[in-house]
Amino acid sequence: MSAVLAAHGRALDAAPRAGVALLGLGTVGRAWLARLARLQQTGLARELQLRFLANSRGAARLARAADATPAVESLRSRSVRSEAWRELPPGSLIVDATASAEVAAEHAAWLDAGHAIVTANKLGRAGPIERHRHIERAAARYGDAATVGAGLPILESLRRLRAGGDRIVSIAGVLSGTLAWLLDGYDGTTAFGARVREAHARGYTEPDPRVDLSGEDVRRKLVVLARAAGFELEAHDVAIRPLIDDERGTRTLDEALVAAEPALAARAREATAVGEVLRYVARLDERGARIGLEALAPDDPLAGGRGCDNRVAIRSCRYAASALVIQGPGAGAEVTAAALIDDALRITGATA
Ligand SMILES: NC(=O)c1ccc[n+]([C@@H]2O[C@H](COP(=O)([O-])OP(=O)(O)OC[C@H]3O[C@@H](n4cnc5c(N)ncnc54)[C@H](OP(=O)(O)O)[C@@H]3O)[C@@H](O)[C@H]2O)c1
Repeated sequence: MSAVLAAHGRALDAAPRAGVALLGLGTVGRAWLARLARLQQTGLARELQLRFLANSRGAARLARAADATPAVESLRSRSVRSEAWRELPPGSLIVDATASAEVAAEHAAWLDAGHAIVTANKLGRAGPIERHRHIERAAARYGDAATVGAGLPILESLRRLRAGGDRIVSIAGVLSGTLAWLLDGYDGTTAFGARVREAHARGYTEPDPRVDLSGEDVRRKLVVLARAAGFELEAHDVAIRPLIDDERGTRTLDEALVAAEPALAARAREATAVGEVLRYVARLDERGARIGLEALAPDDPLAGGRGCDNRVAIRSCRYAASALVIQGPGAGAEVTAAALIDDALRITGATA
């Protein structure tokens, strides 16, 4: 073991053992459980002691980590909604692996009550500005790396630049791994709806894919990024052109796809004909905040990246002539679960 790893190991040994409460037993929650078990088998992350599990249908207190698997099965087989997720043990490290507005609405109160939170749920930081300010006051106990870029060091970079006296001038990004995957190689000759169904089956989409396709997921991410960059944006400040318009949730996914597909396919064929690529882009600059589909030249900083890659270009006073570009996989349960565990370890280490 290297000296650095050995020192890190000692720091973790010294950290207090945290009772962990996992909310959400879906794609991300179960990937989180599997990753924690793998890490603990190798002697890592031992301070994360799983003590509470919940979905929207019930909760279970655990005496031992080995009780987790049957508890997950039991909770997932229930059919009636329950508020048992609210009965958290005191002083928990809460892992929010839900997409629930109700859960996000509790983040500020939970921080006040002394809990720590790591979250994949964007609605904490992207909710009303007062909630964001409240969370900011307890930021040392709040991990949000999984909310944008599934753990890529985007939020961290913005915060470090600002802490070092830099000023963020603009942010442009491909922020949805799901939409990046859907548009990667799409030239209008194959059915877009079939791609959407495959992305859903692979666990790349939000629980309701309309949240991705309407641009709502990207809007939330741009709000989280903007606030980290020092701009106190509200969701309604973002001008949004949906990729697939579900008329504010009034159309089913299939209806929305059927209505949108001809125009989308034509746009893709036009872009392909002139050597451009389609990307769903979020921008924040002196012209405001906006998101929508764009046809980009192949050498555009946002045109690169494959599959689920996110790509973000940050301009600041320090990075004025040439943008700071961060790229990497920005969707998927594995990277998201890893980001949640990294944040949990940072928080337990920080409180040692
Ligand atoms: N999948 C990805 O690649 C990815 C990447 C980055 C971030 N994320 C984020 O991760 C979060 C989870 O995504 P997912 O794909 O795992 O969703 P999912 O498979 O639909 O799972 C959501 C889970 O949350 C539970 N839940 C809902 N309301 C709850 C409540 N009030 N209390 C406790 N549990 C509740 C659901 O329980 P029921 O089954 O009982 O309803 C379900 O177990 C989302 O915020 C998403 O944006 C996902």
